[in-house]
Amino acid sequence: MTDEAITLLGLESSCDDTAAAVVRLSDGRGAILSSVVAGQADLHAAFGGVVPEIAARAHVEKIDLCVEEALARAGLGLGDLDGIAVTAGPGLIGGVLAGVMCAKGIAAAAGLPILGINHLAGHALTPRLTDDLAFPYLMLLVSGGHCQFLIVEGADRFRRLGGTIDDAPGEAFDKTAKLLGLPQPGGPAVEAEAAHGDPARFAFPRPLLDRPGCDLSFSGLKTALLRARDGIVAEKGGLTRTDRADLCAGFQAAVAEVLAEKSRRALEEYLSLAPAAPAFAVAGGVAANAAIRERLRSVCARAGVRFVAPPLALCTDNAAMIAWAGIERFRLGLIDGLDLVARPRWPLDLGQPALIGGGKKGAKA
Ligand code: KG4
Ligand code: ZN
Repeated sequence: MTDEAITLLGLESSCDDTAAAVVRLSDGRGAILSSVVAGQADLHAAFGGVVPEIAARAHVEKIDLCVEEALARAGLGLGDLDGIAVTAGPGLIGGVLAGVMCAKGIAAAAGLPILGINHLAGHALTPRLTDDLAFPYLMLLVSGGHCQFLIVEGADRFRRLGGTIDDAPGEAFDKTAKLLGLPQPGGPAVEAEAAHGDPARFAFPRPLLDRPGCDLSFSGLKTALLRARDGIVAEKGGLTRTDRADLCAGFQAAVAEVLAEKSRRALEEYLSLAPAAPAFAVAGGVAANAAIRERLRSVCARAGVRFVAPPLALCTDNAAMIAWAGIERFRLGLIDGLDLVARPRWPLDLGQPALIGGGKKGAKA
């Protein structure tokens, strides 16, 4: 480890956000000098999901502009950088390629080292940038594309305790919203409806709670919601506001309960390692849900474990997390060459079999 400051440019383009950021480590602390995120939600809205070809084209068009803006906002030029970190997977391959090719071009032209970052490692290492967490800590990634429990043992060492065997929870929130005629992204809309609904009116299933371990499943929940909706429509000819709110409340309560119970189990496994400063961190858009966040917070309080939720802008896809993961690897001397490859699938924990199933936002690794 060096005491010298390290400044990296980070690039992210694995899904539907084109992003560039500059992050600096000095005196042992990371600081975000700039973070630019250009979303594509408007381009995909009419299709009800991310269209890989449209996403890839938009990344190619926007990534150079994002880099220019990130450098300008940081007040730096390429000559001030120590390297370039880029998401090299997992994700939609056209987008990942756009980022990797851009990073290679800059690295070759400016004579800078390049660092290929696993997108999930970017999410998983963020709590060290925001909250200075010490290894090992427990991480729950919950978004529209990811759902897994990881023990983060080091910048390059991750142990996967379990994850979804089908949909990610954000995907389930989005589908629920669609089934109930609510706007996208579904999470915030369903949460707002649930706030004035009765969570006990519908007995939705708690998938996989009867099985040991930390794996999760959300696709059955979506089917149960569809059946409940169709039942009401068949009986009454349509949904009232109360019906909709009760359906949302029941769905959200089921997701929260499953996530809380699986988190409790993951914590048990993590605590058996006797970490000196136990901590549980969440990342991903679903962590914005107040009801879910509170359930997780109380699971942690009962287990005597610190609960950390980075600010939302750093929980969702961004390039600061990629630059930071790059800094962590740079310190370990884990630098790549210009032969770096873009990977559609890239499990963080190589000791575990890769998950089957892609999901609407691409591979979940
Ligand atoms: O992390 P993110 O911005 O993007 C990726 O999926 O990579 O997460 C977006 C997901 C969407 O599915 C969205 O519906 C969900 O997070 N989400 C929420 C809430 N806010 C966003 N889900 C539940 N409650 C929320 N308040
Ligand atoms: Zn992500």
